[in-house]
Amino acid sequence: MMKSARFIPVGLIVLIAATLLVGCKAGGDNPGREYAPNMYHSVAYEPLIQIMDEDAGRWVNSSDKDRGEYYNSNNYNPFKMNMRLPAPNTVRRNVHGWLPYRAGNDTTSLRLANKLVNPYEASPAILEQGKVLYEIYCKHCHGAKGMGDGKVADKYPGVANLKGDAIKGVTEGHIFHVITYGKGLMGAHGSQVNEEERWKIAKYVKELQKN
Ligand code: HEC
Repeated sequence: MMKSARFIPVGLIVLIAATLLVGCKAGGDNPGREYAPNMYHSVAYEPLIQIMDEDAGRWVNSSDKDRGEYYNSNNYNPFKMNMRLPAPNTVRRNVHGWLPYRAGNDTTSLRLANKLVNPYEASPAILEQGKVLYEIYCKHCHGAKGMGDGKVADKYPGVANLKGDAIKGVTEGHIFHVITYGKGLMGAHGSQVNEEERWKIAKYVKELQKN
């Protein structure tokens, strides 16, 4: 009784170990066996990992597929591209038809940015969205109320008090520009929040400054 109970787990362990050893054989051009390959090879269209070989990954196919599991190209585009190139000499616009913000990172642009008009009205919905974004991207430095007392400011002095006299009067365009490129000690946030989001944050900062 005791003996057989012990025998089974040992046999199982040996079997698993053997499977792992065989499965791990990789080297040169052989990537080896992968456990749950769908976790590494996205089935979704990916512009940067384009697999055009219809047989790629056929060995892991789920039963309802007629192409290999790794195939991820778009047959309807020229050269089976996943992401089409923009038409030559065109300018990207967002869903609202806005052109990209092309003012540069210089003092003249900063000054001119004062004149920009926020395309959003201060509706409750916009302010609420601005608040959510502010709390993700600004609060840790500028503090929940904009007083320059966020957690980061505890350790690193110099974070601006957005309600201080120097900044209280700035325009939303100025805030938009500062978020885009940063200013002085503050780094640029343009790659983290898109233009719509920046305008919403600017709206919310103005609201914070009022109270
Ligand atoms: C990593 C910390 C940090 C984060 C995050 C941060 N800021 Fe700042 N911010 C600063 C510092 C520091 C200054 C003071 C810059 C200086 O004068 O050198 C500043 C200055 C400012 C100013 C004043 C600019 C001026 O005219 O002098 C505004 C407006 C501002 N931040 C808005 C924002 C908004 C909106 C966000 C969120 C998108 C944000 N900041 C995120 C650190 C931060």
